[in-house]
Amino acid sequence: MFITFEGIEGSGKSTALELLAAHLESRGLSVCRTREPGGCQLGQALRHLLLDARTVSLASRAELFLFLADRAQHVAEVILPSLEEGEIVLCDRYMDSTLVYQGAGRGMDPDRLRMLNEQAACGMIPDMTLLFDLPVSEGLARAGRRNREEGTIISEGRFEAESMAFHHRVREGYLALAAEEPDRIFLVDASQHPDDVLLQCVSVVERKLQEYGRLA
Ligand code: TYD
Repeated sequence: MFITFEGIEGSGKSTALELLAAHLESRGLSVCRTREPGGCQLGQALRHLLLDARTVSLASRAELFLFLADRAQHVAEVILPSLEEGEIVLCDRYMDSTLVYQGAGRGMDPDRLRMLNEQAACGMIPDMTLLFDLPVSEGLARAGRRNREEGTIISEGRFEAESMAFHHRVREGYLALAAEEPDRIFLVDASQHPDDVLLQCVSVVERKLQEYGRLA
């Protein structure tokens, strides 16, 4: 089963992914934790180019194709083999990030993005997506704090440095996607305490695992 984690900067999805992975392992399931960009060796190099605030000149279309190249390699090298092994794949960001950051955020055509996403991902659509939602100002404050603490404000700060308007478009883009695909995308209230965020995730994920016959 393939589960993706989406949300604006600082929505706490990476923390939730780690906690959910540990929870599923405690229930005897085998889990693959991964992320985009950067879930494979090629992706690590692309992540560096894409997120470093010192990458001064990157046309929107070049940015898009770097994210798609990361996805194509990641699907081939990590996601498909892990699913074939029967693992539960938990992926921090995936196709929906492209739809909202390059689409709603940068203004690229959503139909074309869907088509390119589909090609890059070899048709690999997530079984479910958890969308971590919270106000933009809260998310950016958390992301800023984390980057200062981890010393990644420059090396991973290119998107965080975008305008407030950009981040608002991204959040709205995510909420619109969730409204379009309620069977796949589950909204998580990310403004709650991490323990409560985890409880929300466990509840929807366990229900889906039971549906797929992966949990009693
Ligand atoms: P990351 O450090 O993973 O952000 P976060 O910790 O908030 O998840 O950075 C990934 C950045 O790349 C994030 O700002 C969203 C952006 N992105 C896109 O614009 N398009 C994409 O297709 C993907 C996968 C990410």
